[in-house]
Parts: sequence; C-alpha cells; structure tokens
Amino acid sequence: MIKFAKSAKPVFYVTTPIYYVNDVPHIGHAYTTIAGDILARWHRSLGHSVFFLTGTDEHGLKVQRAAEKAGKSPSAFVNEIVPKWKELFDTLKISYDHFIRTTDPLHQRTVQKFIKLVDANGDIYKGTYKGNYCVECENYIPDDDVVDGMCKIHQRQVEFLEEDTYFFKMSKYAGELLDKYKENPGSIKPSSRLEEIRSRILREGLRDLSITRTTFNWGVPFPIDKKHVTYVWFDALANYISALGWPSGAKYKKFWPANIHLIGKDILWFHTAIWHSMLQSAGAPLPKTVYAHGWWTVDGQKMSKSLGNVVDPKKIVERYGVDSFRYFLFREVPFGEDGDFSEVTLIQRRNAELADELGNLVARVLTLIEKFSNNKIPKAAKQKKDDVEIIWKAEDTIRHASEHMQNLEFHKALEKIWSYIGTANKYIEDEKPWDLAKQNSPHLNTVLYNLGESLRIITALIAPFIPGTAENIAKQLGLTSVSALKKLEWGKLKPNTVISKGDILFEKIDAEKIGVVEPFEKLDLRVAEVMNVEEVPEAEKLYKLKLNVGKLGFRQIVAGVKQHYKPTELKGKRIVIIANLKPAKIRGAPSQGMLLAAEDKAGKVGILRVDETEPGKDVFIVGIEKKPVQNLDISEFIKITLETRGNSVYYKDKFLQTYKEKVHVERAGEGGRVR
Ligand code: MSP
Repeated sequence: MIKFAKSAKPVFYVTTPIYYVNDVPHIGHAYTTIAGDILARWHRSLGHSVFFLTGTDEHGLKVQRAAEKAGKSPSAFVNEIVPKWKELFDTLKISYDHFIRTTDPLHQRTVQKFIKLVDANGDIYKGTYKGNYCVECENYIPDDDVVDGMCKIHQRQVEFLEEDTYFFKMSKYAGELLDKYKENPGSIKPSSRLEEIRSRILREGLRDLSITRTTFNWGVPFPIDKKHVTYVWFDALANYISALGWPSGAKYKKFWPANIHLIGKDILWFHTAIWHSMLQSAGAPLPKTVYAHGWWTVDGQKMSKSLGNVVDPKKIVERYGVDSFRYFLFREVPFGEDGDFSEVTLIQRRNAELADELGNLVARVLTLIEKFSNNKIPKAAKQKKDDVEIIWKAEDTIRHASEHMQNLEFHKALEKIWSYIGTANKYIEDEKPWDLAKQNSPHLNTVLYNLGESLRIITALIAPFIPGTAENIAKQLGLTSVSALKKLEWGKLKPNTVISKGDILFEKIDAEKIGVVEPFEKLDLRVAEVMNVEEVPEAEKLYKLKLNVGKLGFRQIVAGVKQHYKPTELKGKRIVIIANLKPAKIRGAPSQGMLLAAEDKAGKVGILRVDETEPGKDVFIVGIEKKPVQNLDISEFIKITLETRGNSVYYKDKFLQTYKEKVHVERAGEGGRVR
C-alpha cells in the first residue's frame, strides 16, 4: 500500500502572483493560477490542510495610468476590473481559498505595520533617487537593462525620474541570503534559477531599494511620511503574509512559511532578493520554495498587443472546454520551461489523448460492464498472471505520479497517468471480454472488475488537473465522489456498485472545420536549383534568379541577397523557396516565389540549402501535414517564426528537412531568423 500522509495533518500553503489589473487576463496569467489550483487540489486530496491564495495587485503608476486612460478614478476602475478576474477564475475552476486585493483595508494596514517594523529594525532611511523607471516593470531599471532608451524586457520607453524617497536597506542582507540559499538549495527552483539569483547577488551585491514614491498617489500611504506612497512591489509582496493575518493571526501561525510561491520567471528577483530581504528584516521565516515557471509564446512569437496575438483564456475555454485547456497547458510543456501555445496542438492533444485514449477507455469499460454485468461492478474471481500488470502498474503510477508532483513535474505526472490509461486500453484488447462472455468464463468478472477499478484510480489521479472530467467519470462509475489520493490503493471499488453510463467525454474536433490551421501547413517549401543569376537594373540589393524547380518547372524569382552573395556563389546551389507565394512584380521583374535566407543577430545573412535533394522535392517538418494554399500572401509567412539552431533551421522544436537530409543554413549563426 502506498501511504501519502503522516499521522499529523500536513499543511500546504501555495500562492500565485497577484495580478495587475491594468490589463485583461491572458493565458500567461491563467497558467500560473491553474498550476496553483492543481497543486492545491492534489494536496487536498492527499488529506493535507491547504491554503491556496491568489488575487490582484491594484496599486501603482501602471494601474493609475490605465484608470486615467479609461476616464475613471483608480478605485472605480479597479472595482470594475476585479470581478472580471474572479469570473475568469471561476470559469477556469480555480479553487482558491482566498482572493486578496491590495486595496483591502486589512492588507493596507498590514503593509503599514510591516513598514513600521522594518523601520524600527533600522532598515529604512530617507534619500533621493535618480534613475530610469519602466512603468511596465514598475521598477527602476539598471543602466545595463536600458537599450536605446527602452527597457530590455518590455521594449518600452523608460522614464527618467528623480525624487525624494525612502530606502530599504536591502544591501545589508546579501550575505544572509547567500547563506540561506546554501542551507536550503530548494528555496529557489528550478536549480538554474537559484544559480541565476546567487550569481547576480555575488556579482552585483544588493542595492538599497527605493520604496516610496511622491510623483503619484495611488498606493498605500507610507506610514512614516504621509507625503509618500509605498512602492507597489513592497506593498504587493506583503500580500502573502497579510492574507494570513501576520504577525499573530492563527492562519499565519499555521501556514507560514509558504510551501510554494508560484511565479513566472520575469518576477524572480522581486520574489527572492527583495521579498527574502524584507522577511529577513522583519524576522520572519523565508518561504520554503519560490518556483519560477517559463513563459508562453503564441505560434512561436511573444504575446503582445501590437502583434494582436494575445490569447484570451475565456475564448479558448468557450471553444474547447476548460479541461482541454488545463490539460494542454500542463501536458505540453515542462513547467520550468518556455512553451508555445498553438490551438492546433491543443486540438491534436485533445483528440488523441483526451478523446481517443481517456474517453474511449471510459466508454468501453462502461459499455462492457453494462452489457456483460448488468450495469453492476462484478466481484472479481481469481486474479491470473495476465491481470498482474494492470494491478501493479496502478500502484506504480500512483507512486511515480506523486513523486513528479512533489517536483512540480506536471507533464511527467500526466505522461505516467496516460501510460497507465494505455495499459488499461491494451488490457481490454488482450483479454477480449466479449470472448470471455461467449465462453461463459469466470475470468470475465475479474477483467471487468479490474477495468472498473483502474478507472477509479485514474479518476483520482486526473482530478486535480481536469476536475470536471474526473467528477463526470466518477458519477458514471457509480461513485458518490472522486476517490481521494490519500490511501489510494487497489481493490477499494465495491462490487455491486451500479454504474450509470453517460455521454461521451470529449467529442473530437476537426481543426480545419472550425478554421484553425497550423500556419506552417499553408507553406509549400521546395528545393530549387539556381541555374542563372542576373542583376536587376538599378537595384543594389536584388538579383533575378532563374531556378529549376523539378516537376514545378522553371521559374524566376527576385531575391534581395545581392549585398551578401556574388552570382558565382549562388549558381548551381540547391536552395529552399516558398513555391506558392502570390506572384509579384519587383522593380518590374516578375517573381514567382521567394528564396529563404536567415539573418543572425550579428546581421550575417546566409541562404537555406540542401546538398543532395533533387530540385522540386518537398521541404517539410515531420508531424505537420502540408496543405498549401494557392497564392499565399507574404503576411501569412511573416507570422511563421523559423529560427536557426546550429546550422539547422527550426520551426518550434522541429527541424526543416527533405526526404534525404536536414536543411542547413550557410553563414548565419545561432538564433538567426529566416525571412
Ligand atoms: N503584480 C505583479 C506580481 C506581484 S506578486 C507579489 C505581476 N503581475 S502580472 O499580472 O504582470 O503578471 C503575473 C504573472 O503572469 C507573472 O508570474 C508572469 O510571469 C505571468 N505571465 C505574464 N505573461 C506570461 C506569459 N506569456 N507566459 C507565462 N506567464 C506569464 O507581475
């Protein structure tokens, strides 16, 4: 038997960042919050005493400006926005225990109390601050992070500010923090993030932090000097303890230090160097772990309003249901790494893993019990050799999944569970209950019991990830609720339980029918041999290339590579072209397609090439079926990010190739973009 809990009820406190309310929520925000929810549900199911905190960060210049832009007072503005976040969290089935708002009076009082304590400990002094401020970061930016007057992270203009301010003596804590990190290497995860912080502190030390502002007033009044408002991060970070009633509340005593602060990688410094120093100053223990997850891009590109590719989680849920969304986010990408969000991949996973693998298993098992056991879970007869695997693998899956959950390896936990779903599906194929029924074999009942029991176990394991689906399966199995992970073990499904088969769990979705296509599908990339290279009169960047494209015939394309290649360097080479681009006239010369070349960060340009593949052959990516459209518009190609790694060319995480070889790039180095 696998035991999860010790005799005393362990506590588990998990938090998400609190979200700025100047903007609408997107999948990045949904991601951290669902991660918190999965952990909270997992630990509750283990019988732990859980406190799951999320909320909104409502102060600061960014929010004040958004309110001004909307023509509202900051408080009216935030009061209108916060319910939208709560609504989204309900849609996403977020089971938070408390939703904190930094405008809550109790939180504000706590921040003031905290500041007074830090001051009493001698860690606050008055001075002036000059520097570049990025409103998006809500932070002064070190000179190294300002490039051409822009913040490196947000690509936004920084503002030079000079103001009287109070400082927090953070510099004092550099040594203590380094000692703490040494004592507890698990305090920042993944380990690469710990290294990042350690080496930054070793390199730069900690600078005293400006913690008040006078240029605007939307914030917690600074208790030592009412002309100042508290810096938004000093206010926001305190939410993790104000929500518990720091310093003497019962919840604080019970739940602090937090087990896990979940955050995105961009706010790691705030949650380690700054937050840890604040806690050191106040004499409070540090959280056990700060875990920084990766960022989502969309179809290979950073989400941004200007690109118009910000993904609204509400829309995704409307289209595919909340469980497909939750499942996809945590199956697709390891939690600490960056990932790419694509509806096509979401649909593929939904169809294959949720509809075919899980959905079919549930439907088959319930149909078999309905048909051959009169809707009741039978009593198992003797287990045979063939039955051993489905039993031991159940326990093995429980054990491994829980180890992975300890390490926040959500994708591995899901992989394990789905491998077990595969085992159960295979068990049906191998045992052929329909034949056992024909033969009147007593083994039939054993097989049906084992299948029902494996479903019960699967349901308990998937519930934290896809709670609605798990409840639905439990109901169909005739259970009053999903089984708890605590003491989850084989053999607890009661014979004679009456099942009630319901509708299928996941309808398959035809991506094309609903107009969702993988952008890469639309391209027709081909190998072409350069037969001849001519100048274009008066065009210093252009050549006319005569190409042999095999079956597609001979073509001319106009290419802007003259500054990088001599005609002799191109002639005879086998290059890659987009063969289905809308024909165009460039400087009067007809062009039927486009040559692909990559430019690296140093500005070096090199063409994409193959050596052995014959002209006219396809260039493709394994796993993406080509469905080229005619007369492709160049704007469609621009949306597709092809990148060089080594001398190969990648789309997302797969390389471009022909049936004979990988496509390679000349000259351009790592991280080059194909255009
Ligand atoms: N208000 C601060 C946090 C204060 S916590 C004391 C803040 N808010 S935020 O709304 O800008 O961001 C909240 C979280 O969303 C961060 O963890 C951030 O990493 C995450 N994400 C924002 N964009 C993201 C992606 N594209 N992908 C994944 N997560 C991303 O920062």
